[in-house]
Amino acid sequence: MEKLVRRALGLAALALMLGAGAAQAQDSIKVGLILEYTGPFANNSQEIDNGVKLYMAQHGDTVAGKKIEIIRRDTTGAAPDVAKRLAQELVTRDKVRFLAGFGLTPNALAAADVATEAKVPMIIMNAATSIITTKSPYIARFSFTLPQVTMPMAEWAAKNGIKQVYILVSDYGPGHDAEAAFEKAFTTAGGTIVGKVATPLANPDFSVYVQKIKDAKPQAVFLFVPSGQQPTALLKAMAEQGLTGSGLKILATGDVTDDMTLHIEGDAALGMITSHHYSYAHDSAANKAFVKAYTEAFGPSLRPDFLAVGGYDGMAAIYKVAEALKGEIDSDKAMAVLKGMSFESPRGPIEIDPATRDIVQTVYIRRVEKVGGDLVNVEFDKVEHVKDPGKP
Ligand code: PHB
Repeated sequence: MEKLVRRALGLAALALMLGAGAAQAQDSIKVGLILEYTGPFANNSQEIDNGVKLYMAQHGDTVAGKKIEIIRRDTTGAAPDVAKRLAQELVTRDKVRFLAGFGLTPNALAAADVATEAKVPMIIMNAATSIITTKSPYIARFSFTLPQVTMPMAEWAAKNGIKQVYILVSDYGPGHDAEAAFEKAFTTAGGTIVGKVATPLANPDFSVYVQKIKDAKPQAVFLFVPSGQQPTALLKAMAEQGLTGSGLKILATGDVTDDMTLHIEGDAALGMITSHHYSYAHDSAANKAFVKAYTEAFGPSLRPDFLAVGGYDGMAAIYKVAEALKGEIDSDKAMAVLKGMSFESPRGPIEIDPATRDIVQTVYIRRVEKVGGDLVNVEFDKVEHVKDPGKP
């Protein structure tokens, strides 16, 4: 009996040792990439994923002797319950060292608690509602926030003779943020909001909402809908009701003139003024190299957009953390490296505000123009070093 107990204890100790040994001998760093690979936002996620792939192709898949292993998971769209379950499985079963991705706000918000409980750094590659970074001390954002890009747009409008604006936004976090930021900055600068409407996130029929804009006869409109299928549908409805190419000034965040879909939107987008953190036409050596490599990797018909840059920079951040920690990823040390991290992105210089773990970057004002027969977001003004103004 005693012998049996001793043997059982011995086995348990051996199992423990093996377990510990296995953890120490871990020769890969697993990254759980949660995206909307299928469903209405699949193209957005493809761009983010391409950014991830390109960074890894350019920098090799090994950092500090550890292989970077991407484990991809599909939320199938805006599905917070699915996103949360996937995050839980990735940390408990797959033992990922990072959670990353998140094209949509509801999915990022749902996974935030998992990052906190499991103490796993979570790298946001797109989701852009201001509040996301406040939901876990383990979140750092490498994309943008809606208030960050919207305030410069509102200020530009007020300075450039626009006095009355009608606001149309998507009825969820990023849209609410964009609406609040535009209204605050524009009215503070003396402008008037003449009407507002919010469109559903799922299957919006824009013609009804566009009719409301038409009835209000505003001088200008400010738009935010999430990139993907909605901007094209919105502009089509506006064109059908005669609002594009008319006297109406059309302002938006760059989500609405995303480089990925701008050519599908066609001439309806011409002359639109937008604000955003990235245009594929951004004039810098880093961006020229990025666009060339992206086009070579994924074909000339696919343009890199802000989503691709979010994936690329988010992956750069993970590599930089792995390098700094010599391949041993401790969560709190990883967060310390992320806080204050700065580097040159294809979009321009970026840094992570150590106080909020949110991104600080240049916001560009752009006009949709035809350049060599191509529709392009041409940057013509900028505000440097913009923090997220939306934090409570
Ligand atoms: C978001 O859900 O946070 C989101 C999605 C698409 C965008 C911007 C924000 O273009």
